[in-house]
This record gives sequence, structure tokens and C-alpha cells, in this order.
Amino acid sequence: MTNMHKRAIKSMKPASSLLNRREFAKTTLLAGAAVASGAVVGEDIKRIRTGVIGCGSVSGSYLPVLSKCPYVEVVSLCDIRPERARKRAEEFKVAHHYPHIDKMLAGEPFDFLIDLTDMQEHEHLNRQALEAGKHVWSEKPIANSLAAGQELLRFSRQKNRRLWGAPITVQSPQFAFMARTLAQGALGRVAAAHADYGHEGPNWSSFFYEKGGGSMPDLMVYNLTSLTGLLGPAKHVTAMLSIVTPERDITEKGKIKVTEEDNAMLLLDHGKGVIAHVQSGFNYFNPHGHDGSGEQRHTITIVGSGGFIGLVGYDWAPQGVDVATHKQPKLERHATDAEGYIWQQGAALAAECLVTGRELLVTPEQALHVLEIITAARASQETGKRIALTSTFKWPIVS
Ligand SMILES: NC(=O)c1ccc[n+]([C@@H]2O[C@H](COP(=O)([O-])OP(=O)(O)OC[C@H]3O[C@@H](n4cnc5c(N)ncnc54)[C@H](O)[C@@H]3O)[C@@H](O)[C@H]2O)c1
Repeated sequence: MTNMHKRAIKSMKPASSLLNRREFAKTTLLAGAAVASGAVVGEDIKRIRTGVIGCGSVSGSYLPVLSKCPYVEVVSLCDIRPERARKRAEEFKVAHHYPHIDKMLAGEPFDFLIDLTDMQEHEHLNRQALEAGKHVWSEKPIANSLAAGQELLRFSRQKNRRLWGAPITVQSPQFAFMARTLAQGALGRVAAAHADYGHEGPNWSSFFYEKGGGSMPDLMVYNLTSLTGLLGPAKHVTAMLSIVTPERDITEKGKIKVTEEDNAMLLLDHGKGVIAHVQSGFNYFNPHGHDGSGEQRHTITIVGSGGFIGLVGYDWAPQGVDVATHKQPKLERHATDAEGYIWQQGAALAAECLVTGRELLVTPEQALHVLEIITAARASQETGKRIALTSTFKWPIVS
């Protein structure tokens, strides 16, 4: 259990006679939110009945967190490869499993769907779940286009349901430290940023390399969430994208054609003269792969007239923040404690929000802005033009 969960459980103990008026109102509101969310209210703990769709690789990272989360009861699993759902159900002692979303929605009742399927499947599955009255946590992306994502968000509000999407890099204490440092003006006039993330590419599924896939929605999405979170919504995008490896070997499938970029470079205009450069790819030598603890270099850097800030390690598994300023020109390391943050906890935090009313820093509006950057980058590559962005989100992100 994370420190955050321990704190949250503590805060949900029954109201004592010592509660002041403000605390009492908050407790009552939270209870209201819990009932509205469909959470099961127990003696001391509330759990939201949850279904997980997509029992592939990432479910192996989510389910251990969900099975320990005090706000979640996973009641059903689903995968179009039924043996995967069955295996995960056995492994995590989940009572029900289904081979199709229609069967899942008609089966054991639940209130919260966690969508861990192929990137191209999210949009229609998220829509179907919202139509059935479920709250939704979606792996990235929430939808395949900005327009479709905005329509899903409008629909979720109309139905009084919540919709969120990964990733959650803005929830980390290292992000909070960087955001605070920038807000304090420690870097002087901010000018430029760089971020990069890559590895040699997944070999277990072909969707990563097919239309709607690519290194941007799979990998760059983390950096784009962090950069827009730190520097604000982007106004324009210019991009160059390419395919470096036109054929890949995929487990159980053999050779496939790569039709979406596996190499991406973007320039983002954040306004007020601030420019960021971000790159991702599936052809990057990377001895650390998915071992977040292995990466020690700066993967995000921001420089201004008075200082430099560098995130140590990946933004999804950050290890600290190095800062140098005119006053303190030698790099100093800060924020080395994860404070319970792990990248796999997004759906658990969403469940906590549904049960207690505690809001997340990650918002669907920002996820959709990042999606627009990705689709605009594809348009920039096709047309050779700089593309203006239309979406935005509430900024700054303050914890
Ligand atoms: N693998 C990781 O470490 C990782 C990490 C972070 C995020 N993600 C994201 O998680 C998502 C899934 O990635 P993955 O690596 O687990 O892929 P995967 O191929 O291992 O798993 C996807 C699963 O979804 C199932 N599926 C596909 N369409 C479905 C449908 N319509 N109904 C039910 N099941 C369906 C597939 O059969 C498969 O078992 C992607 O969005 C990916 O970007 C993956």
C-alpha cells in the first residue's frame, strides 16, 4: 500500500465529534461522491466495482496495484483472447471473465472500466463503456482523434460519468518540484526544453507499428504530458517523422509491415517565446528498457536565462531533479523520494477519486491536448507545414 493510500484511508475514518464545520461538510460531500460513483460503502472502506478489459502485457503491471488498492474490487476481466482473461482471473482471483465487451457489460455488474487494450481499440470500447454508464480509465490514447476524444468527454459529462487517460507523469513529486521551481522563477526567463524517450520497440504485439500506433502515442506521450504540464499548452507543432525499420518480427505473428512512424522529432511552441524539442523512437539503443531504475541521465531538461533543471531518469519513473542557477551554479540534486508514486497507479488513483472525491492532477483535457499534438505532428509530416493547435487545458498544474 502506498503512503498516499495510507493517508487516504486515515482521512476516511468515521467522522468524530471533534470535526469542525468545514471538515464535516467535506466528509459529507465525499460520502455523496461515493454513493454517486456507485461505490460499495463498507464499515470503514469503500470499494468501487471494477472491470478490466485487455489482459495483455500492461495488465501484469496494473492488476497487482489494483488488487492491493483499498478503493477497488476487481469483479471481472475481459480479453478477446479468452485464455488471457482466464489466466489473469486465476492469477488475481477475479471471479468473472469474458471473451467480449458485450458479454462483460451484460455479465457481473460493475461501475468502473479500466481499458488496457490495443491503442486503436480504446475509442470504441471507451464509448461503449460510457454508454453503459461506466466510469472509464483508459490507457493512452483515450481516442484516435481530438474530435472523437472531445465527443467522448462531452458524452461522459452528459452521463455524469468520469473519463481519464494515462499517463500520469504530472502526479509525481519530481514533476511537482519542477513545476514549483519554474513558478518561483528560479530559471529566469525560460527559453528552451528538450525531452526524449525511446527503446528498441515492443515485440509482443503488432498494433504498436500499425495505423494509430507509433512511438508518439506509446512513448512520446509521457514527455508531451510532462512538457505541456511544465511549460503550458502548446500553440503550434512542427514535426519530422520517419520509419527506420520497415519490417518487424512479432511474437506469434512473424514478420509485419511497419506503417506508422518509429522515429519522431517535434518542435513545440509554448508561447512567450518558449520552444521545446521532443523526440521518441523504437530504434533507440537503450540498455535499461522498461527498467525505470536503470536510467540515470536527464531525460527532460529546461533552460532559462538564470538556471537549468534536469529530470533524472524517465518521467514515468523519476529519480530526482538536478538544478543549477546563477546563485548555485553547481548541479544540486533534489526530490529523490518517489513518495509512493508509480506509473502503474493511475487507475487506482482514479478509483480513489471516485470513492473519496479526491481529485487527480491528471485531466482528460490535458490527455486530449497531447493527443492533438500527436495528430498535428502527423499532419505536419504530411504537409511539411507548422500546425496550429486548438485545444488547451487548465494550467498551471499545482499540487
Ligand atoms: N506493455 C507495457 O508495459 C505498457 C506500459 C504502459 C502503457 N501501455 C499501454 O497499454 C495498452 C496495452 O498495451 P500492452 O503492451 O498490454 O498490449 P498487449 O498486446 O500485450 O495487450 C493488449 C490486450 O488487449 C486485448 N484486446 C485487444 N482488443 C480488444 C478488444 N476489443 N476487447 C478485449 N480485449 C482486446 C488483446 O487481445 C491483448 O491481450 C497500450 O495502450 C499501451 O500503449 C503498455
